[in-house]
Amino acid sequence: MMEPIIKIENFTFYYPDSQAAALAGINLAIRPGEFVGLTGPTGAGKTTLTLALNGIIPNFQGGRLAGRVTVAGRDTATTPCARLAGIIGSVFQDPEAQLVAETVEDELAFGLENLAVPREEMRARITMALEMVAITGLRHRPLSQLSGGQKQKVAIAAAAALQPRILVLDEPTSELDPRSSLEIVNLLQRFNRDYGMTIILIEQKVSLLAPLVPRMVCLHQGRIVADAAPRQVLNQDQLVAELGLEIPPVTTLFRLLRRAGAYHGDLPLEVDQGCRELERLLGPAGTGAFPCRRQ
Ligand SMILES: Nc1ncnc2c1ncn2[C@@H]1O[C@H](COP(=O)(O)OP(=O)(O)O)[C@@H](O)[C@H]1O
Ligand SMILES: [Mg+2]
Repeated sequence: MMEPIIKIENFTFYYPDSQAAALAGINLAIRPGEFVGLTGPTGAGKTTLTLALNGIIPNFQGGRLAGRVTVAGRDTATTPCARLAGIIGSVFQDPEAQLVAETVEDELAFGLENLAVPREEMRARITMALEMVAITGLRHRPLSQLSGGQKQKVAIAAAAALQPRILVLDEPTSELDPRSSLEIVNLLQRFNRDYGMTIILIEQKVSLLAPLVPRMVCLHQGRIVADAAPRQVLNQDQLVAELGLEIPPVTTLFRLLRRAGAYHGDLPLEVDQGCRELERLLGPAGTGAFPCRRQ
C-alpha cells in the first residue's frame, strides 16, 4: 500500500472563544491519486477541514487544536503556507474572495510569482493551465467581466498552474447552474485521471458526488460519521436522514421500492443504472421494454 499523501491524526480544533469543537477527533488518511468526496450539512466542519489541510489553521487562524495534519510528509503546523501552496492547491467557496488581480492572466501569474517560478516557465504554465480548464479565450479578459462560473474556472486554473499534487475544492459548484457544475466535475475527473492529481471535493449535492467519487467521507458536527463507497453510505437510511443528505432522486426511488419489499439489489446512483435495474425488475430480459436510457 502506498503511503498516504494526507494524514490527519486525532485532530481537534476550536475556533477562538468557541465552546464547541469545529472538528473533533478527526482521523483520515488519503493516498496519492485518490478522488475523495467530502459532504455533510452546513456547519459540519467541511471548510474548517479545508483550512486545516492548507495550513491556514493553525498558521493564520487562531484557536486551540490537538493532533496533527501531515501533507506530503510535512507537518502543516510547522510548514509555511506558501510552501504548502505548491503542494496542495485550494479553491475556496467564493471565487470573489480568492481572486486578486485585474485580468485572468495576471491572476494565474500571481500565484506563480509567489512561488518564484521563472518568467519563461510561468508563461508556459499559464498557457497549459488555461488549456486544461478550457478557458484559453479568457486569458486577457478583466475578471470583473466574467460570470460566476467563469470566475470559478479561473480560480481552478490558478490553482492548477501551481501544479499541486493535491487539489482541495470547497463547494466549487454552489453558485453554478447544473450544466456548469457538470463541466467543473468533468474537469476534476480529468485532472484526477490524466494527471494523477489527488482531489478532495467538498460538495453538498450528493447527486453530483455519488456517481463521481469512489470514496465519500461524511462530516457531522465536526466528526467523521461515514467513510466508504457512496453506495454503501447511501445504503444507511438513518445516516441519510440524520444528515439530510441531498441524494440522487433515482436513489431515493429505489430506497422506497426497497422499503416496500419490491427491490433487493444495489442502489442505483444514476438514472442509467436505475433504468437497467427497472428493466431487470419489470421487463423480459433483453427486450428493451423500458427504453429510457440516455442516448
Ligand atoms: N471563524 C469562525 N469563528 C468561530 N466559529 C466558526 C468560524 N468558522 C466556522 N465556525 C464554526 O465552526 C463550525 C464548522 O463550520 P464550517 O467548517 O464552516 O462548516 P461547513 O463548511 O461544513 O459548513 C460551525 O459550527 C461554525 O459555526
Ligand atoms: Mg463551508
